[in-house]
Amino acid sequence: MSSLKELCAGLPLNPLPENRGRAAGVPHAPRRTPGLSAEELRLALQNSLRYFPPVLHKELAQEFADELRLYGHVYMYRFCPQIQMRAYPIHEYPCKTKKAAAIMHMIMNNLDPAVAQFPQELVTYGGNGQVFSNWAQFWLVMNYLAEMTEDQTLVMYSGHPLGLFPSHHNAPRVVITNGMVIPNYSSREEYEKLFAMGVTMYGQMTAGSYCYIGPQGIVHGTVLTVLNAGRRYLGLDDLAGKVFVTSGLGGMSGAQAKAADIAGCVGIIAEVDKAALLKRHAQGWLMEITDSLDQCVARLREARKNKTVLSLGYHGNVVDLWERLVSEYEATGDLLVDLGSDQTSCHNPFSGGYYPVQLSFEEANQLLASNPEKFRELVQESLKRQVAAINTLSEKGLFFWDYGNAFLLEAKRAGAEVEKDGVGKTEFRYPSYVQHIMGEIFSLGFGPFRWVCTSGDPQDLSVTDLIAASELENIINQGVDEAVQQQYNDNIRWIREAGRHDLVVGSQARILYSDQKGRVCIAVAINRAVADGRLKAPVVISRDHHDVSGTDSPYRETSNIYDGSAFCADMAVQNFVGDAFRGATWVALHNGGGVGWGEVINGGFGLVLDGSEESEERARMMLGWDVSNGVARRCWSGNRNAHETIRRTMEENSGLRVTLPYQVEDELILRKALGHN
Ligand SMILES: NC(=O)c1ccc[n+]([C@@H]2O[C@H](COP(=O)([O-])OP(=O)(O)OC[C@H]3O[C@@H](n4cnc5c(N)ncnc54)[C@H](O)[C@@H]3O)[C@@H](O)[C@H]2O)c1
Repeated sequence: MSSLKELCAGLPLNPLPENRGRAAGVPHAPRRTPGLSAEELRLALQNSLRYFPPVLHKELAQEFADELRLYGHVYMYRFCPQIQMRAYPIHEYPCKTKKAAAIMHMIMNNLDPAVAQFPQELVTYGGNGQVFSNWAQFWLVMNYLAEMTEDQTLVMYSGHPLGLFPSHHNAPRVVITNGMVIPNYSSREEYEKLFAMGVTMYGQMTAGSYCYIGPQGIVHGTVLTVLNAGRRYLGLDDLAGKVFVTSGLGGMSGAQAKAADIAGCVGIIAEVDKAALLKRHAQGWLMEITDSLDQCVARLREARKNKTVLSLGYHGNVVDLWERLVSEYEATGDLLVDLGSDQTSCHNPFSGGYYPVQLSFEEANQLLASNPEKFRELVQESLKRQVAAINTLSEKGLFFWDYGNAFLLEAKRAGAEVEKDGVGKTEFRYPSYVQHIMGEIFSLGFGPFRWVCTSGDPQDLSVTDLIAASELENIINQGVDEAVQQQYNDNIRWIREAGRHDLVVGSQARILYSDQKGRVCIAVAINRAVADGRLKAPVVISRDHHDVSGTDSPYRETSNIYDGSAFCADMAVQNFVGDAFRGATWVALHNGGGVGWGEVINGGFGLVLDGSEESEERARMMLGWDVSNGVARRCWSGNRNAHETIRRTMEENSGLRVTLPYQVEDELILRKALGHN
């Protein structure tokens, strides 16, 4: 076992580490099928050897060529570190600035096998959300971070560390771009080739930006989604005895089981990959598991009847589950499901994100490697079958929603019946959770704010939970708008109970939804607690990119932008740049994330609160921009809640002046001017 000091000493070349190949007993990413031409294969191999001196090329070339042939990508398995990968406490990393050590803490968390979906392929979540493209990049980055001073910035090109460049104390320590491809070449086919050649990378949202916090990252949002779906569709506050059926127990989707438990309903979650199912069960995120549909339906009926809270993982394909629920209905007249969704990795349906029902998991992986075209056909057929079953049940009273994984978009592309007449091109027969269920949260400035205690001490996390609850309560006591008060109340309840639900997987992290004022108050209070020693080490603040200003995604975060700009991405790009010069410790801008490559641009940040006055100043300035940017854009697009929110923020901050839109009050004026009488 090597030490963190060795891990930060640069690529181990002399001697080369033993080539152990892929480890058994660890889940591995499906084989990629980039379809490289002979010249592209040559380039891919040549590019991978760039990280090594020529004396090693003969030995490594054959090995890397084999990886390319066997797995469709050069991961450089030989260089998988032997040290246990996890978020070690900040003081254990060799460094010249604590900010760099905090970033190492976050990177190590993203690659922790308890956290990461395919740790040896450097995939944190979402099937293909890479932290780096290969292990050489990891070693180089750790070394750069250990050596960097506060007068340098590390530049990351899609996993590749271009190097340390002179900058200044106030600049970000790391600037990351992932998947920035000339727009006309940002297709899935091109992506597979570019990734295999090692020149671009899909970083999802928080994988390639080093701020993933395990499935807790969305458990809070998922709880609210299930509760709000119950309120909105079933008219119920209490979900006892109500059944929620969905799929996916992966990186993010694993949150669904815990959410069903916290929301007090019966959650049935299908998962084809046994390793993913067992992992969530072992982590206590899933109460029971079964691989029998009979058993699954029997437990569902029992829990529904007795109104017992249950999260049950069905090991099998979700299409089989939906079709069985249809047969149960046809045979008995019992509609056994009230709420439904899907969280397979449909943003990446043809490379292992969605498994077709016609084959077992193993057979599907073989077909994916041997005949990707056939695999694609089966996926599309399977999506059509899934939608047909959902349609049948929804006609009987099931409420189904899209969970931001491009399920409806891909189902439509497959030819499934998901279209709806008379709606805009970003809408379908079933609603998207963002605007229909979560409501106008982004326009009010609310979004998933998170923090990580780099001491790694659970006691520090408890202290921050108390700080956050008390800061939100103070804000309410000072008086807030009615629309905002409900959000605050829900989040105070959440944070008060969070510690009890055993949500931590990996680093000592917490998430809640807050608006600008809440985020700033919490950050400032945490920083002061670092300063006065109530917290043992710096705290990193960050957020999901799935936020007010972080993401331009016409089928999800910005699906309620109605001025024609839903397909524009100025907001996310401005956000990344604006965060960078307002004090972020690192910033990231990504193509893809959530709904997939080419479908979205998103960005995020990390900011280290080290207890200094300067950190407080940075947090105030950066968080203000990080929320107000998106609220202002949403206001300009015509959103009334956003208009009200930004107007209030301007009253509180004389430095903020936003261009406000005038509404056209008389529709007739438009019609007349255009000759549409
Ligand atoms: N709603 C949100 O806020 C949100 C947040 C993050 C990610 N997402 C999106 O949700 C999706 C899932 O994310 P993730 O991180 O959990 O991905 P993941 O790849 O880790 O998990 C998806 C799981 O679905 C399983 N699966 C695939 N096809 C299946 C099938 N037919 N039947 C049963 N199981 C099947 C896979 O084995 C996998 O374990 C992604 O598209 C992601 O972009 C949504």
